[in-house]
Amino acid sequence: MLKGLKTSIRPIEEDDLDEIYQWYNDQEVNLWSSGAWPLNTLQSKDQLAVKFLDESPDTHRYIILDENERLIGTIGFKEINIPARSVALFVVIGDKNYWGKAYGTDAVITFARYLFSQWNFHRISLDTWDQNIRAIKAYEKVGFVIEGRQREARYVLGNYHDAILMGLLREEFLALHGKI
Ligand SMILES: CC(C)(COP(=O)(O)OP(=O)(O)OC[C@H]1O[C@@H](n2cnc3c(N)ncnc32)[C@H](O)[C@@H]1OP(=O)(O)O)[C@@H](O)C(=O)NCCC(=O)NCCS
Repeated sequence: MLKGLKTSIRPIEEDDLDEIYQWYNDQEVNLWSSGAWPLNTLQSKDQLAVKFLDESPDTHRYIILDENERLIGTIGFKEINIPARSVALFVVIGDKNYWGKAYGTDAVITFARYLFSQWNFHRISLDTWDQNIRAIKAYEKVGFVIEGRQREARYVLGNYHDAILMGLLREEFLALHGKI
């Protein structure tokens, strides 16, 4: 179990799937996390079980818990580049009651520390879309900087939006958050 100040992070168990299913089929969560709703097909429990429980060499998923070990979201990494020691991070606080209360930021700090220390990554990247100011602000608090934007790369509720590309280097994380 990884311990942050407000959150803990552990591997996903089968019993977590019911909660994850609720989050993945919540239109608002889906809107912010993928920017695609309502174009997505709603996910079935079987699809989710395959996605979350099957071991994949490239995508690793974990669950985020609050101080009382209540499930509040998921976090993970993918797109591992071994020679460059870089990886892409993704996060969703699925319980909307926890948005804007620094749980997401704490989880990303905790998880980034794990990726830099245990996995020995040198760089973490992530992306979001231009209207997701809450995500951009949260990632900036962790230390991520905006490295670029892909113009009109996302299509959300009938409008094109820019994708925002962000990155964080190990040295930058160390400077902000101390030893790993
Ligand atoms: C994105 C997410 C992980 C952020 O975690 P969080 O715990 O909600 O974020 P925090 O509360 O730590 O920080 C959010 C910051 O954005 C600010 N913010 C929120 N909405 C804002 C807005 N419309 N304009 C400006 N600032 C805003 C908050 O004030 C806060 O900054 P502060 O701490 O300096 O006051 C979480 O909200 C989430 O998972 N949302 C739904 C799915 C999603 O968007 N996933 C990310 C996909 S890339």
